[in-house]
Amino acid sequence: MHVDVWQGFLFVNLDRGTPMPLREWLAGQRDEPLSLERFDLGQLRLGVTTETIVNANWKIIIENYCECLHCPTVHPELLETVKAYRTGWVLEEGREDGGVSLPPGGNSYSAQGISTLTVMPSMTEVEANSIYGAMVFPNMFIDMAGTGLIASQLLPMGPDRTKVIAHYLFVAEDLVRDDFDPSPVVDFSELVARQDFEVAERVQRGVSSSAFGQGVFAVKDEAVDVFVQRYLEARDGAS
Ligand SMILES: [Fe+2]
Repeated sequence: MHVDVWQGFLFVNLDRGTPMPLREWLAGQRDEPLSLERFDLGQLRLGVTTETIVNANWKIIIENYCECLHCPTVHPELLETVKAYRTGWVLEEGREDGGVSLPPGGNSYSAQGISTLTVMPSMTEVEANSIYGAMVFPNMFIDMAGTGLIASQLLPMGPDRTKVIAHYLFVAEDLVRDDFDPSPVVDFSELVARQDFEVAERVQRGVSSSAFGQGVFAVKDEAVDVFVQRYLEARDGAS
């Protein structure tokens, strides 16, 4: 077993041989998590942790994360906060930094982007008014806004069952404030996540049917296709 740390996150590699160095692994990720290093994620501190059991295969949850085709019908509250998601794309047209814009004055992954939390000092005004996301293969999501991030960990419990652990991190000085209130972020994120998990569980029921043959990827599923191909390469390479 090999253990390494990146930006405050502990990564475990169960490879019995010589594993790929962690930074090299992260550099090979489609969503470029290394680009988030400019925000100095290690300065953040854990404020809240939630656990949810989802009755779906872990890969279905990741596939859902990798596309926003479902956003207009599944996430009415999220669409009020992130207008770009109304297009069904996960990225915002015209932005080169991978960010998607919050409403003017917004700084958090919350309803309308509003909270009283402290903005990370490493961010510019535009960055603090944005959301950035990254899927780190195989089982991690990073969702961040101006006031912190959510690191989600997917733990397979069986072929049709996954434990999702969401770690909510905030600016360190916020955690010792008497009026620290993470609820605008936690409540909003848990609402959006619950909406995703419900459709993931419906997909699980669908693919479990003997009538199911295969799905079809739309153009906006490009990132899903990348994940599936990478999974197949990892699975076949491991056998
Ligand atoms: Fe979603």
